[in-house]
Amino acid sequence: MAWHTPFDISSVVGWMMTAGARCRSVMGRQVVEWRAASPGLFLREWLARPGTVGAVWPSSSGLARRMAACVPRGGAGLVVELGGGTGAVTAALQARGIASQRLWVVERSPAFAHHLRRRFPTLNVVQGDAARLAERLPRGATVDVIVSSLPLLSLPAAEADAIVAAWRRVLPPGGTLIQFSYALRDRAGVPFEGFVQQGSHLIWYNMPPARVRVYVRGD
Ligand SMILES: C[S@@+](CC[C@H](N)C(=O)[O-])C[C@H]1O[C@@H](n2cnc3c(N)ncnc32)[C@H](O)[C@@H]1O
Repeated sequence: MAWHTPFDISSVVGWMMTAGARCRSVMGRQVVEWRAASPGLFLREWLARPGTVGAVWPSSSGLARRMAACVPRGGAGLVVELGGGTGAVTAALQARGIASQRLWVVERSPAFAHHLRRRFPTLNVVQGDAARLAERLPRGATVDVIVSSLPLLSLPAAEADAIVAAWRRVLPPGGTLIQFSYALRDRAGVPFEGFVQQGSHLIWYNMPPARVRVYVRGD
């Protein structure tokens, strides 16, 4: 008498092997992301200057991808990233296809700036204060987009105001500003003088969860 199994054993073994391979590949990617994120460096910098770093952990790939996805396609002007840290957002901007010559990263911490230069040797990494942005960029360059991870809510108010004033100086009307913060509730947005909020995205996969807000520079 033939013995019938309710399923084909070879297809079950095949499925398990495929699932195992997928699982290994996802875990492998997580390990690569984890190493690239340099959480040790991030923690050291946070311990030294908690208010300026503004987070205990590097931005997640989910947050970084969402910020990069908000950068409009096309355009020839600069895309300026502020507060590059360990480079999660920088990597996402590169993956979005922003050409190296258009991408400028401004980072105040010498340790983070050194790390960014080693991780992205072809990019323009400037060590300096975002409040003096105009002096840090090539003279006469047009800026299309500012992508900011600066912890404006944990910086002293005068510093945060100086940074927003610097944005107004370099970004022409119609330019895009992308800023994330841990103020989740306020969907209407954190107001920045001279900017109009266009949209916001909640990112749960980050530590802590964050909200990305997109603004356009008004006239
Ligand atoms: C929330 S962390 C950035 C996280 C980054 N996306 C990452 O994954 O590593 C904020 C960053 O802003 C930088 N920063 C703070 N104030 C700054 C300023 N005035 N000018 C430039 N960078 C500044 C800090 O050194 C820090 O790297």
